[in-house]
Amino acid sequence: MVNTNNSEETPARMKVEEESPRIDVGRAVLSMTEDQVGESNAKSASTVFEVSKLNVYYGDFCALRDVSLDVTQSEVTAFIGPSGCGKSTFLRCFNRMNDLIETARVEGEVRYHGVDLYQSEVDAVEVRRRIGMVFQKPNPFPKSIYDNIAFGPRIAGAKKSELDDIVERSLQRAALWDEVRDRLSDPAYGLSGGQQQRLCIARAIAVEPDVVLMDEPCSALDPIATARIEELIAELKTDYTIVIVTHNMQQAARISDRTAFFSVQVTDAGRRTGELVELGPTEQIFTNPDDPRTEAYITGRVG
Ligand SMILES: Nc1ncnc2c1ncn2[C@@H]1O[C@H](COP(=O)(O)OP(=O)(O)O)[C@@H](O)[C@H]1O
Ligand SMILES: [Mg+2]
Repeated sequence: MVNTNNSEETPARMKVEEESPRIDVGRAVLSMTEDQVGESNAKSASTVFEVSKLNVYYGDFCALRDVSLDVTQSEVTAFIGPSGCGKSTFLRCFNRMNDLIETARVEGEVRYHGVDLYQSEVDAVEVRRRIGMVFQKPNPFPKSIYDNIAFGPRIAGAKKSELDDIVERSLQRAALWDEVRDRLSDPAYGLSGGQQQRLCIARAIAVEPDVVLMDEPCSALDPIATARIEELIAELKTDYTIVIVTHNMQQAARISDRTAFFSVQVTDAGRRTGELVELGPTEQIFTNPDDPRTEAYITGRVG
């Protein structure tokens, strides 16, 4: 992570460039696609991700095999499946978070607006700005509410004068502003779990991403806080493409447009490898799936 202790004196953007000499190339590759989506080699302007023949390994263990799927703009795509089938592993491939796991290795392609995210010129830091992530357990920084939101924009070079606006806008967008507007300098840890998770969503959208990845964002929350996050997701999808892992099938049915069901295959050697069973419109997956394994899972006979 970039050290921002001196962000008042030194433009943070310069520091990022010093530490990461490839960022210009990464920006160029990625911004080319933003300006020229129509001309890029993406399947269509509404296809955000095209994953093809993806394998993910941890050391020599293959956690996920031969996954191909598309993610469509301004939709909520849900990943469901039994524990250990590789949902989190797969989600991390969309913003190169697996780079941070030493043993992880990715084969195959993840195209983002037509650009292969794993080509060496693409800068992973820029990728993670465009493709934000919210985790299972709310993980605010040990900072004030304000500084949690301002953190990313500061690194990206936002001016001090712009920050108040960014903080307010992001908190409003995450449906948290009214609850915290009078205590922005209080520590984020003082918020309830549900508020902390909305803060993490506000933090993710403060850097104006294109996509928000969520890994079981409600699993640590009570039903009321969960309902608020679900409402928020429904609102956010007009502006962002959302990919969400959930172990709660009712949640997937309520909030997603398309659902991908993953399963585990146990090899002769007793190793468990995840695979994509099927992806389809959520209603179809829950009422009339193509594959008997999906049917067994959603009717509660397996998993
Ligand atoms: N950092 C890691 N190192 C080694 N193995 C891992 C790591 N993360 C996950 N795995 C393994 O990869 C498989 C898929 O895990 P995961 O993606 O967390 O599944 P899910 O999110 O569907 O529960 C599991 O067998 C898990 O033990
Ligand atoms: Mg997981």
